[in-house]
Formats: sequence, structure tokens, C-alpha cells
Amino acid sequence: MTLPLAPGARQPDGPVWVNGRIVRGEDAALSVFDRGARDGGGIFETLRVYGREPFAWTRHMERLVLAAAELGFPVPPTPASMREGVAELLEELALDDAVARITVTRGIAGGRPTRTGAWIEVQPIGARLWRGTRRGAATAMVSPLVFDLGWMGAYKTTSRMAWDLAREQALAAGVDEALLVSSAGELLEGSASNLFVVRGREVITPPLASRVLPGVTRAIALELCAALGMAAREARLEVADLATADEVFVTNSVQEILPLARVAGRDLPARDVGSRLLAAYRERVAASR
Ligand SMILES: Cc1ncc(COP(=O)(O)O)c(C=O)c1O
Repeated sequence: MTLPLAPGARQPDGPVWVNGRIVRGEDAALSVFDRGARDGGGIFETLRVYGREPFAWTRHMERLVLAAAELGFPVPPTPASMREGVAELLEELALDDAVARITVTRGIAGGRPTRTGAWIEVQPIGARLWRGTRRGAATAMVSPLVFDLGWMGAYKTTSRMAWDLAREQALAAGVDEALLVSSAGELLEGSASNLFVVRGREVITPPLASRVLPGVTRAIALELCAALGMAAREARLEVADLATADEVFVTNSVQEILPLARVAGRDLPARDVGSRLLAAYRERVAASR
């Protein structure tokens, strides 16, 4: 399997906020004794910044802090200090529209009091948009890798290799996203997005009970369905549902709400519901600033 350079690979020299300080290059380092480095013991949030304002900040912080507590992490830096960190990086990089990634690790075992390793990176938005997002015609395939997420599927952990490989296979196949399917044939989510299918007048998304990531954008999309009077529900989906779907869209904080033009080799007949939701999402972003 030959894979392209991982998306998100970046210049090693830019500024990074590490445990409260802005550092560069070699100084942006994590101890090899940190469980984030040794065992993939980390969680992260990726969020979009519009005009210097991080969107849905509180929801992202709630997910991060809740996950840290549930997974037995030391207490992470306060949301206020992390917000300050994002602001400092935006200032330093002179960026208004960007993607911020906040990573928190389990820290070094046995130290008392234990401390998380925490760092923040900020990138220009252009570097992070998928080709299909830029062109307005995104595509997806069904991943050949089987995903049985288990209880960890509900957390945004740094143990990302399986998800990254699925997405890199999608990129190598010339599509934007890989849809993940369990060994029981259940369609779950994308490698970096939540999944929605539109059938008739109904919007359907796999249930959180299947331990898909409780996406911030997924939750907002469901709220927008309610606000726009669209019927929406959680239900089990299978690969066969892609063949009969009127529309399919995926959601994440960076790509927003992304109606697919083609999925699993089939051109989709419509993108109206996804496009309406995207317009409503952007209105919500504008109203939040
Ligand atoms: C596996 C997975 N599902 C869903 C999402 C979407 O989450 P959010 O809307 O909070 O960005 C992501 C985001 O990266 C993801 O990695």
C-alpha cells in the first residue's frame, strides 16, 4: 500500500502553544515518557476559526473536558487559557480564518500531581479544506477496512492510525472521504466526519449508541433540521442504503456540512437538503460573530 503524505503534515518551524508558552521548531516537544507519546493516550479537538472567533468553542471544550474526566486524565488547562493560546497563535500567524487543533495527553505516569501535556496548533483554513469541499463536489467511498469501534469510538483520541489509513486510502482512490462499516455491516461515520443519508423527506444519521463520535457539527446539523422543519432521526444504516439514498452528506467542524456528489461509485440524484443545511449552518456561524 503506497500512501500519500498524511494530510495535516506541516512545517515543523511554525509557532505552537505548548503548556502555556509559544515555542517553535525543536522546542515544540513532548516527553517520550508522556503517555500521549508512548501509548496514544491523548484526546484532541479540531475546530474552525472564522474572523478570529473559534466557532462552537463551548461545545468543543465540553467534549474535551468530559472526555478527559471519563478517561481518567489529569485536569487539562482551563478553557480560558486554551482560548488565550488560540488567540496568541492567530495573532502570531496573522490569521483570521483558520483551523485550530488542541491536543491534551494523559501526561507522565506516576508524577504527583500528574500534569497533562497540552498543545495547540493553528493552520490556515486553505490547507485543510478537502478537494471536494473546495470544488463543491465532494465524493466518498466505502472503506475496505472493517471498523468495530467499541466504546472508544465515542472519544476523539489521538490513537488515529486506523482512521488515518482509511482516509489515506480514500485519497489514494481519488475521493475525499472513506465511510466506515462495522463487521455487522453497519454504516458508522466517515474517517473524519459524521454521516447523514436523506431518504424521501427524512434525514437519517447513525445513532450515538453505535459509539460514533458525537460530532459537534452533527449535533448542530440535527438542531438545524429541527429549526427548518425537516424530519430527522437516528437509525441504523447499511451500505445498501447508499444505493437508494436521495442524498448523502458528511459533517465536521472544518468541512462544515458537505453534500456529496458521488458515493461508492454512484452519482447522487440530489444535494438540496445538504445545501439548505449548509446555508443555515453558515448563517449560524455569521450570527455567532
Ligand atoms: C471519526 C470522526 N467522526 C466525526 C467527526 C466530526 O466531528 P466534529 O463535527 O466535532 O468536527 C470527526 C472529526 O474529525 C471524526 O474524526
